[in-house]
Amino acid sequence: MARCFITRTLPGASIDRLTAAGHQLDIWPERMPPTPAELVSRTAEAEGLLCMLTDEIDAGLLDSAPDLKVVSNMAVGCDNIDLIACRERGIDVGNTPGVLTDATADLTLSLMLALARRLPEGMSSVRSGEWKTWSPDFLLGMELRDRTLGIIGTGRIGSAVSARAIAFGMEVVESGRPDGPTPGLPLAELLAQADIVSLHCPLTEETRWLVDAEFLSKMQSHALLINTSRGQVVDQIALATALSSGTIAGAALDVTDPEPLPSDDPILMAPNLIVTPHLGSATNRTREAMASIAVDNLLAGLEGRPLPHPVT
Ligand code: GLV
Ligand code: GLV
Repeated sequence: MARCFITRTLPGASIDRLTAAGHQLDIWPERMPPTPAELVSRTAEAEGLLCMLTDEIDAGLLDSAPDLKVVSNMAVGCDNIDLIACRERGIDVGNTPGVLTDATADLTLSLMLALARRLPEGMSSVRSGEWKTWSPDFLLGMELRDRTLGIIGTGRIGSAVSARAIAFGMEVVESGRPDGPTPGLPLAELLAQADIVSLHCPLTEETRWLVDAEFLSKMQSHALLINTSRGQVVDQIALATALSSGTIAGAALDVTDPEPLPSDDPILMAPNLIVTPHLGSATNRTREAMASIAVDNLLAGLEGRPLPHPVT
């Protein structure tokens, strides 16, 4: 019998398991997330919080929620949560790894193909009437076979992207992870070799603005950048400059800083850019599975059991 604040309506039927366990649920009913002040006031009396990546969980919020035992994030990335502040207060944190790997890898390949084969330009040329006839040199793009994909961050999603890229006949080089079985290629070498660079690292103090002017200058001028990780891994000002000056040939971003981008954000003026609205995990199956895991974590935390998917 615990009070829980759930910051959005959950897909699927997982919520029924919380009700069946007798918990008292306060579910945020709007499409737009609670404001920081609303988040603080609705969480103040809660023992369990089930939140989204749009909710900033900081030390101030935790201090005004003295009964809070568990924060269950319906996301794999937890950069919206102050993990140290949670640990200091003995609050468990859970996330939803694994179930969104394939959906995010599929979206990464979608962006890669759309950018390499210039689908947005092709679609708008049809609608605007600019497309007059098939012609030998119209909208020629890059083929994936025999091209080199450089993967930054070879966790679950990076590995799933790698498997798909190999099926397309690509060579894959990886930056590896410091704690992984293989160290991977040094970053400068990866950037020099890659025709496409794809980002799959979490956002941490080490990866914030990893893709800056220097990083971009080490990429090949025909190379493409794909980001389905977190917006702040890329310095967007540096990226806009690199696209405008031809330092790199194109970029596709499913994540930006901020989200959403204001319609007059300078990055949107850059050429050869695709931006999508954070759709990595956006399939029915994946979102239901994420909700289910988030509920599993919440239930475990409320009952004092170890979380099935803890974030450490
Ligand atoms: C989505 O970006 C997630 O981290 O789940
Ligand atoms: C393209 O449409 C071809 O048939 O080569």
